[in-house]
Amino acid sequence: MQIRIRILCENQASGAFKGEHGFSALIEMGGKSLVFDSGQSDTILQNALISGVNLREIDGIALSHGHFDHSGGLLSLLDVSGPKKVYLHSHALEPKYFISGKVKRFIGTPFTRDALESLSRELVFTKDMLEIIPGLHLSGEIPRVNDPDYREETLFREIKGNIEPDPFTDDQSIFIEGPEGVIVITGCAHAGLINIISYAEDAFGKISAIVGGMHLGMGMSTEKINESLDYIESVCPLRIVPCHCTGLKATARMLERFKNRTIPGHAGLLLCF
Ligand SMILES: [Fe+2]
Ligand SMILES: [Fe+2]
Repeated sequence: MQIRIRILCENQASGAFKGEHGFSALIEMGGKSLVFDSGQSDTILQNALISGVNLREIDGIALSHGHFDHSGGLLSLLDVSGPKKVYLHSHALEPKYFISGKVKRFIGTPFTRDALESLSRELVFTKDMLEIIPGLHLSGEIPRVNDPDYREETLFREIKGNIEPDPFTDDQSIFIEGPEGVIVITGCAHAGLINIISYAEDAFGKISAIVGGMHLGMGMSTEKINESLDYIESVCPLRIVPCHCTGLKATARMLERFKNRTIPGHAGLLLCF
């Protein structure tokens, strides 16, 4: 069975594809398909059109987490695709903020639950791992084995009127049982790249590829980048596709270290397994 992963939204783009700060990928396997994340705007529609993807034929949509750059295109997508099942963690719909000094910016889902429900066939709230398509699993909550107390200083959520550091319980990844091992697809990897990969490995065995936002940019220390790269090296994936929030520094180090196993992601990229 062939598995095809097409990047529909990404910070970089090739040819006629449009780039935007965000992430979305279409996964096709065994005659079924799932859109994972929706980018931040209707760019997903334009890029799907250029790819020759008929969004009406997709079987479902999953969200990695509630940030706008992964969920902002969702209503536009549902408008075109027609009602589909949408898989997400309930905490993805909590208000989320970037706060630094006097700057406070809303960065959560730019729609209400009512609006989402009205366009979806069903909202499926996931906390535990769920097999959406045979061989394709949405991770559910990721156990924080590595660095359990780590919080990002500028990222917050609002819960019952209180604003607190975001623990990212909503952060989920996709694990696909591929022909050469597990393909891990991350949205922003807020749960920690090492936690995500080790959870996938514990559940399904050898890792064959890591694709998606790995959250090693935006002020991430060299120590943290090196720790993540050491871990990637230890699981020895055949392909590493850094996207979105992986950051230029970490991507450059991956190219240096993992050579042609590293394929920097961009809108329009098609990966076949
Ligand atoms: Fe992101
Ligand atoms: Fe994010």
